[in-house]
Amino acid sequence: MGGFQKNNNKKEWFTQLLLKWNKEKNNRKMPWKGEKDSYKIWLSEIILQQTRVEQGLGYYKKFIQAFPDIHRLANATDERVYKMWEGLGYYTRCKNLLYSARYISRELDGIFPGTYEEIKALKGVGPYTAAAIASFAFNLPYAVADGNVFRVLARVFGIKEPVHSPVGKKKFLHLANELLYRKQPGIYNQAIMDFGAVICKPATPLCTNCIFNKNCFAFLHNKIDLLPVNKKKIHIRQRWFYYLVLEWRKKFAIRQRMGKDIWQNLFEFPLIEATEEIGHKKILQLAVKDRILKEGGYEILSVSPPYKQRLSHQLISGRFLKIKLKQKTVKANDWIWISTGRSSHYAFPAFINQNLKKSGAGKNLF
Ligand code: ADE
Repeated sequence: MGGFQKNNNKKEWFTQLLLKWNKEKNNRKMPWKGEKDSYKIWLSEIILQQTRVEQGLGYYKKFIQAFPDIHRLANATDERVYKMWEGLGYYTRCKNLLYSARYISRELDGIFPGTYEEIKALKGVGPYTAAAIASFAFNLPYAVADGNVFRVLARVFGIKEPVHSPVGKKKFLHLANELLYRKQPGIYNQAIMDFGAVICKPATPLCTNCIFNKNCFAFLHNKIDLLPVNKKKIHIRQRWFYYLVLEWRKKFAIRQRMGKDIWQNLFEFPLIEATEEIGHKKILQLAVKDRILKEGGYEILSVSPPYKQRLSHQLISGRFLKIKLKQKTVKANDWIWISTGRSSHYAFPAFINQNLKKSGAGKNLF
């Protein structure tokens, strides 16, 4: 390992150089950087889970403006908060955000928990987010280990274990905590994330100007593209969603998605779901069987082309079938019938927001 006598020397070298880079060269600006309000830090970290910083920025600002403190968020209606979350995806985050806000506001008098274990016990907070909040808000010595950190450590220290394997995870976390600058854990954690985001980038890292290049394992051994090792193979579930856009006397039927599935609490049209592509005759047959439609009690106005949306573990494909009802079924009583123009009061999944208009089925509706 480079010119170091002992591993520990390399670790000290790494921490010192990173802090120097942070002080002198890091000009990445983000509104939550240096923030001390634990509520705002928590909010930013929940938004940034599974979301890129560029995408999360606008949402963070919007949320802080609408809900400047935890009580304001806790007292907001579900509908308002879900509407503001619209487009960010992974709606379980939004559900947990509200749950935790209400818990802290009502059970803890608005006082954000101040220890790592208590923070990690909040709904929606895992080890990574707990370390981020504990270090940024309370200067507690917990190292963050996210994708940025895995990448920097794997390359500089030549760690070949897959990031998501049990052995790999343990190794990365152990090293991350050894490297942590314990006098200023918050500044150190933000610095290593920023370094991973702007210098040690996934595809085109800026190695020639990198402060670590004299002793970076991956750079010296020409293994930049091979580290970190990401071996997790994910199974992609295929689902077909056929949305029936039902019109009855200038009103449209929507319903709220319940249960433990994607898009929880969001609104959608009556749905026929299948595990493979099916034709519109079959869709209508299933809709009659499901009592969404009555035999002979409807008229098809249009069938959209297929659309697709990739989620982390699922591929959603689907179409919109615009249908004019001549007769309502009993099931119609379970739906909310909205007038034209009222759709903006409800939060819909991106699959509907992005495709319905294109499909033509959303004319007069969205
Ligand atoms: N991703 C998650 N938390 C972050 C933070 N505080 N700064 C930059 N990217 C992040």
